[in-house]
Amino acid sequence: GSTGIVGSLAALSGTAQANWAVNMSPGVTEVSRSVFDLHMTIFLICVVIGVVVFGVMFWSMLRHRRSPDRAPAQFHESTTVEILWTIVPFVILVLMAIPATRTLIDIYDTSESDVDIQVTGYQWKWHYKYLGEDVEFFSNLATPREQIDNRAAKDAHYLLEVDEPLVVPVGAKVRFLVTAADVIHSWWVPALAVKKDAIPGFVNEAWTRIEEPGIYRGQCTELCGKDHGFMPVVVEAKTPEDYAAWLAARKAAAQAEKALGDKEWSLDELMARGEQVYERACAACHMPTGAGMPPVFPALKGSAIATGAPAGHIAIVVDGKPGTAMAAFGKQLSAVDLAAVITYERNAWGNAVGDRVTPQD
Ligand code: CUA
Repeated sequence: GSTGIVGSLAALSGTAQANWAVNMSPGVTEVSRSVFDLHMTIFLICVVIGVVVFGVMFWSMLRHRRSPDRAPAQFHESTTVEILWTIVPFVILVLMAIPATRTLIDIYDTSESDVDIQVTGYQWKWHYKYLGEDVEFFSNLATPREQIDNRAAKDAHYLLEVDEPLVVPVGAKVRFLVTAADVIHSWWVPALAVKKDAIPGFVNEAWTRIEEPGIYRGQCTELCGKDHGFMPVVVEAKTPEDYAAWLAARKAAAQAEKALGDKEWSLDELMARGEQVYERACAACHMPTGAGMPPVFPALKGSAIATGAPAGHIAIVVDGKPGTAMAAFGKQLSAVDLAAVITYERNAWGNAVGDRVTPQD
């Protein structure tokens, strides 16, 4: 009977969710669950229509397959049938449209948000800016290829991961203002049922209210270039207390960074800091003595790169040098660290230019 079929389908969808993972996810928000319920309702309606239509078709084919009189019955110009097959689909469509419209209105209502976050797509990473707070960062500093190499070096099982997840509080209405800086991307986290195109020059809005702390993963879902497949999204939902602590720490770090950048640095202070930066970032290739390992890693001691006009040296450190082993350090060095290491290389190992490069430069 029909209850048997509906029962089996309901059981099937439950099993699919639990074991087969072929169905969509019910997610972790009220909206994501209503999208899931909508999907299941419309799926069941379609299955019932399919069963009825094909049932009648196969029944009449089998029932009449040996009839001596094979001439088909004629319904031509039957007013009753035409009214029925107009009204029945109309009623079914209205029944589907009511919950769908309700869900859509809910999805589009981004008003009265508690937290506003600007999400900007870049080739190939995300930038998050907490509006009204002094907090912003990129999801990834390493390029996709570097991330893969890092993971291979660590012999870790490859998993799309980010350096900095987007952190949000549970229970709060979080509004996303989604845009892009270069080409069209799309920010998608299935567990939240949020998928918004990120388009340069446009701001699209979405929102979520996550109920459970946890880590929710997604990806860029608009083909955006060769590394489109390496634009993961990781959302970390924290309790309101943990979120507040995280936000305070990020703000303090941003202010400390800004204070360092504004500070008036003496030559000695820059040299001391620069030595640390040099040992961390440069010494492995250019040697602690600045002697390098020619010809692959040039000497900095006595070199024109280190002692010449700072602008050229800064450009090489920030952007790297294509075609050589010199990587770009622009994203991993703060303005202070950059100024310090340039100053250090100008004055270490007897280079003794005697001037300093400051963060303000
Ligand atoms: Cu960004 Cu695909």
